[in-house]
Amino acid sequence: MKFKAIILAAGKGTRMKSEEPKVVHKVCGKEMINHVIDTSRSAGVDDVVVILGHGADCVNDRINSDCEIVKQKEQLGTGHAVIQAKDKIGDEDTILIICGDTPLVKSETIKNLFEHHHERGNKATVLTTVVDDPTGYGRVITTEDGELIKIVEQKDASEEEKSVREINSGIYCFSGASLKHSLESIDNDNAQGEYYLTDTIKILREEGSKVGAYKGATIDELMGVNSRVQLSQAEEIMRARINEGHMDNGVTMINPATTYIESDVQIGSDTIIYPGAMLMGSTKIGKSAIIGMNSSITNSTIGDFTEVKNSTIIDSVVGSHTTVGPYAYLRPNANVGDHVKIGDFVEIKNSNIGNNSKASHLAYIGDADVGENVNIGCGVVFVNYDGEKKFRSTVKDGAFVGSNSNLVAPVTVEEKGYIAAGSTITDDVPNASLAIARARQVVKDGWVDKNKK
Ligand code: UD1
Ligand code: CA
Repeated sequence: MKFKAIILAAGKGTRMKSEEPKVVHKVCGKEMINHVIDTSRSAGVDDVVVILGHGADCVNDRINSDCEIVKQKEQLGTGHAVIQAKDKIGDEDTILIICGDTPLVKSETIKNLFEHHHERGNKATVLTTVVDDPTGYGRVITTEDGELIKIVEQKDASEEEKSVREINSGIYCFSGASLKHSLESIDNDNAQGEYYLTDTIKILREEGSKVGAYKGATIDELMGVNSRVQLSQAEEIMRARINEGHMDNGVTMINPATTYIESDVQIGSDTIIYPGAMLMGSTKIGKSAIIGMNSSITNSTIGDFTEVKNSTIIDSVVGSHTTVGPYAYLRPNANVGDHVKIGDFVEIKNSNIGNNSKASHLAYIGDADVGENVNIGCGVVFVNYDGEKKFRSTVKDGAFVGSNSNLVAPVTVEEKGYIAAGSTITDDVPNASLAIARARQVVKDGWVDKNKK
């Protein structure tokens, strides 16, 4: 017996007005389809089957984990979609059915649905909720004792049925055998001419199988995303949820409403996040760090006790007890050590900066290996590009690069090498030696009084 998820995602999502299929649109940095897949897995699902149709290849490319893909060539309804996967359904399996456009469902809710389904010994259990305005949803029709009879779509409902406020979430648990054989009896004799999955409920009840409704979710979890406005609403709900999760883990946020943290970001306790920070992708922030206002950090690791002020960091690693910014720009593959100072208007790309080194202001460090205890002065440029190719430079431990120097790559500054300010270094600098590479100063006595009025 397995717990399997079938995710329905063959629809086009016309109201998104997008070239891309609906389920690859992102909520808090993650495609809706991947939210649903990840949530199902953390609820204990063993295998995931995804039903794709519109833009199938595009969705398949964006799915970030191992799933079985089943294609539904024509979208003839939710029941027809599930029928496409019938070879994947074992008689003994418990099947979770869920839509790819409901990114806000919590794994806890799916777990509860699974448990409720088994405790009651149901063959089918529908996750439902009661709402003020049920417009558009399938209505959950029950007996006076609350026994589930059937689900009626809005377009097929009588006036009395339309007044029911308990709605079908579109999320279900089925026993594999019951799902398969009830799907054999559905037809498309309804207002939309579709094969409705929801008709299986009535079929199972009529043959004497136990079916039930489980009111185990709130509407903000069940919200389906059909338009850009709903996408932004889902984003807002998820953002609040993510931020509250971090605060519960001991992170301080000065203003969570203006703090944007994507789904997979990790943050250590006692870290403080200031307004306007954006933490994206696979970013990991250590403990007791400070992420200052308007910092944007993507796919990067920031160490404990490090402070980032008003800076942009992409695909990089920063050690602990280091300070970055304000206005620093760490481009891909900047690897900055511990106790380092990267000051204002310093740009680093594809370079290593060893422990205890400093580049306090206005420098470009590209394609360089900088050792420990190195001082990079104000205005230093690592000249890494000759217009055709890029070259690396090395600055070894304890070196001092004076202000406004150019290091024309490839060049090596040996340990404790010392470069005079304003030098353009084209040759290697030996160990503990001074290199001066600039025109000698000429002083012309009395020149001003002789030449200027
Ligand atoms: C469905 C339910 C309704 C429920 C609502 C909750 C049915 C008949 N109705 O209605 O009771 O209240 O969800 O949101 O099931 N899909 C396919 N192939 C198809 C048709 C749909 O993969 O042939 C996918 C869509 O991409 C979507 C999901 O199934 O992800 C739901 O389809 P949709 O047509 O939006 O169903 P609703 O009309 O919202
Ligand atoms: Ca529909």
